[in-house]
Amino acid sequence: MEIIKVKDYDAMSEAACSFMVERINRIDHPVLGLATGSTPEGLYKRLIEKYKLGEVSFKNVKSFNLDEYVGLDKNDPNSYYYFMKTKLFDHVDIFMDNVRVPNGTADDLQQECQEHENAIRAAGGIDVQLLGIGANGHIGFNEPGTPFTSRTHVVDLEESTIKANSRFFNSIEEVPTQAISMGIETIMNSKEILLLVSGESKAEALAKLLNGEVTEEVPASVLKNHPKVTIIADEAAFSAAGN
Ligand code: PGA
Repeated sequence: MEIIKVKDYDAMSEAACSFMVERINRIDHPVLGLATGSTPEGLYKRLIEKYKLGEVSFKNVKSFNLDEYVGLDKNDPNSYYYFMKTKLFDHVDIFMDNVRVPNGTADDLQQECQEHENAIRAAGGIDVQLLGIGANGHIGFNEPGTPFTSRTHVVDLEESTIKANSRFFNSIEEVPTQAISMGIETIMNSKEILLLVSGESKAEALAKLLNGEVTEEVPASVLKNHPKVTIIADEAAFSAAGN
């Protein structure tokens, strides 16, 4: 595991951007696993800037998103499809046919999960999976207790996750209670993983990942079992880790 400590959110986003641009330019037909949330927003802004400067192209990129809320239409401003479109895809030369975000309004959610898995496999697997971490140690929407053997599945969100995500909604009642999420094994099958961590609210989760045991109670701790993980975290995120 390579651990890169940076000063703050901007420095994390900058380092993550260099990391991603290097991979997108080096890998022939890059398959990216993408994440939503506040954490990668700065990275996506910088990727758009790099694209405009002609330093990176998404023409040959395929992408798979980690998760999506159940019940939100893709045009709903709170859907992760909408997030990806407005924060990245609309501003770069990616082909929308090469983009897959789980469909949270599919009639058959189990089949939708299977189709996400099948599409990742058909693309040859994920080259680089981008991750954030929840305050409870979740990755994707894999809440504590999710089996390490899980593949893309429908999950019931924890109360703490619903509360954390309610900041984007008018009221907590509007936050969906379920999501489709790549499973832990789906994530672990990626060839390489980049985890971004920023802020004091994530400090405890990062400390548990770095200093604790590998346990399903801390989903992110599984990353210690992956051969190629880079963590870019800022000083505030390290504040509880004792290093
Ligand atoms: P955040 O969410 O980037 O909005 O903090 C990360 C997560 O909960 O996985």
